[in-house]
Amino acid sequence: MRAKSSSRSQRSNSEKKISKESVRMTVPFQSPRGMRDILPEDQVYWGHIDRVLAKVVQEFGFQKITLPTVECAGVFTRSVGEGTDIIEKEMYTFPSRGGDMLALRPELTAGMVRAFIQNGMQVLAKPVKLFTQGPAFRYDRPQEGRYREFYQADFEVFGEDDPIMDAQMIQMAYRTLLTLGLKNVTFQVNTLGSEEDKKQYRKLLVSYLRSKKIKLCRDCKRRLAINPLRILDCKEEKCQQVAQSAPQTVDHLSPEARNHFKFLLEYLDELEIPYSICPSLVRGLDYYSGTVFEILSAGFNGRQSALGGGGRYDTLVKRMGGEQTPAIGFGIGLDRVVMCMKREKTKVYSDPKPKVFLAQLGELAKKKSLRLFAQLEKNGILVRESFGRGGLKAQLRHSSKIGAEITIILGQKEAIDETVIVKDMVSGSQETVSQERLVEIIKKMLKNNGIIFQKRQMDKDKQRE
Ligand code: HAM
Repeated sequence: MRAKSSSRSQRSNSEKKISKESVRMTVPFQSPRGMRDILPEDQVYWGHIDRVLAKVVQEFGFQKITLPTVECAGVFTRSVGEGTDIIEKEMYTFPSRGGDMLALRPELTAGMVRAFIQNGMQVLAKPVKLFTQGPAFRYDRPQEGRYREFYQADFEVFGEDDPIMDAQMIQMAYRTLLTLGLKNVTFQVNTLGSEEDKKQYRKLLVSYLRSKKIKLCRDCKRRLAINPLRILDCKEEKCQQVAQSAPQTVDHLSPEARNHFKFLLEYLDELEIPYSICPSLVRGLDYYSGTVFEILSAGFNGRQSALGGGGRYDTLVKRMGGEQTPAIGFGIGLDRVVMCMKREKTKVYSDPKPKVFLAQLGELAKKKSLRLFAQLEKNGILVRESFGRGGLKAQLRHSSKIGAEITIILGQKEAIDETVIVKDMVSGSQETVSQERLVEIIKKMLKNNGIIFQKRQMDKDKQRE
């Protein structure tokens, strides 16, 4: 018997697959490769993330800002850096009709810095804490957790160079992910040192990489001259092997940079944040100096394990045309967070389900039910209906499918008498009441049902004990 039903379910699964596949073959348009629809069944995760982000943003005193998805391409080439994978291979650029070179943003930090400068935020009381979220685009090879359109939450702080701010940013990232219900979140931290340290380190790195040039991929041989640091995060296996024995930034720090890092580690210990020092971590963007970090989720393997990353960029505001302003920030990859939430089956908040269903029968009742619906909604009662359906049977089926506790039935007779039938779906009893008293009666019933359900839950809990 069981074998039969399992073969039936296998059949229906494969039928579903076949029909999806055949739909894919026949529809003339598909979403672009690496870009996808986020379907209604997944929205519960995204809604939950929005709620948690709003809470954390408020708790840590951030202000929300909305940025354009498209920027002048120069915003990114000047900040993320020539010679990075993002600029060389992954950025979507296109000329506007007016001839400007524009880009779909591959990340959110550069746009935030542009907005900070353009809107004169340098004069605001420091630190200026800004939060934004939205899509970013990278022409990457799509795979699980890696898309060409993906979503980031981005936090940036301008005007504070104390290492306690670095610790607070890591604490905030940690708190956000824990509040979302994720377990096993850890951090990798490193420091690149000051701009001067970076210059000295670059010299050492170039002399090491020159000795290994033959082992590098074609792109990295070219990068050796223009941006040697980026060889350390090349995705090619042979370059990664060379990178493993490269000199490390932590061994070539000025006393100030060493001190800054030391304080950061002490603060992280104080906060009991799970972290490890990763001397090879340099991040794939040029604007960083000083602290860099990545947020990892254990249980994920390979490069997709990064749920987010960030670091200091103390010279970027000046390089982008603003006043010298230290800054630090991080971005969280929301698509990967959703993947983790699903994998870890985290609890998510979902909107309350409607407990009342409004059914109607006949032309006059249909017309009148529109007004009843508005009246119930106005009084804060969440109602479902299927006005397009005529048959009572189909409507009642819909009502029990959504798990309504009360069904209101409006037929021809009730429409004329200005009454309705109210059916308690829990007990099965029903009553005819005047339309005038409907709101009051429904409110009372919902309140009573609530009590009944609470009592049932308490009984269940008692049994469990
Ligand atoms: P990022 O490390 O390039 O940093 O991206 C941050 C996070 O976005 C990654 O850890 C990952 O979770 C997600 N992500 C990146 N690319 C993809 C992709 N193709 N598909 C899915 N998710 C992806 C930045 O973007 C910096 N702007 C972060 C930052 C803010 N640094 C300072 N402030």
